[in-house]
Amino acid sequence: MIAIYPGSFDPITNGHLDIIKRASKVVDNLVVAVLCNGSKRPLFSTEERVEMIKAACHPFENVDVQAFSGLLVDFAKQTSAKVIIRGLRATADFENEFKMAITNKALSDNIETLFLPTSLQYSYISSSMVKEVASLGGDVSFMVPNVVEKKILQKIASI
Ligand code: PNS
Repeated sequence: MIAIYPGSFDPITNGHLDIIKRASKVVDNLVVAVLCNGSKRPLFSTEERVEMIKAACHPFENVDVQAFSGLLVDFAKQTSAKVIIRGLRATADFENEFKMAITNKALSDNIETLFLPTSLQYSYISSSMVKEVASLGGDVSFMVPNVVEKKILQKIASI
């Protein structure tokens, strides 16, 4: 079974990595799909986000990282994925995730969304929280992989 795990990943956090690790154990191949033309203006370029995810996912042999644009269901078809994986942190995530899952199902009946509940220790982490804390000089080392911590410090110093 091929699954895709889509997101903005601006940047990838330990919460995302936990979902990747757990999802990669239940599917044959997992494609981490990085949105490159979303409505939000990202801090990191698509190339930077893909590169950081590749570095963080190095230990997982069945995980591939690719950028995508356009509809997620079209990208899923291109990669022959039948399953979309999304992490759920808290009830606050549910409404939007539910709408996305229903929309994707309406667009393509052949692709199912599966939700993985976040592990408790990562339930408060988000990419926006990481960016806010780092931009205010706070420690983010416990929220993101090492490669991201280094890059975010460089990025903030360069702004
Ligand atoms: O990490 P995010 O920002 O919550 O991820 C959102 C993402 C990338 C999964 C979502 O915006 C998406 O799938 N965008 C692609 C466009 C699309 O297919 N839209 C219709 C279904 S939501």
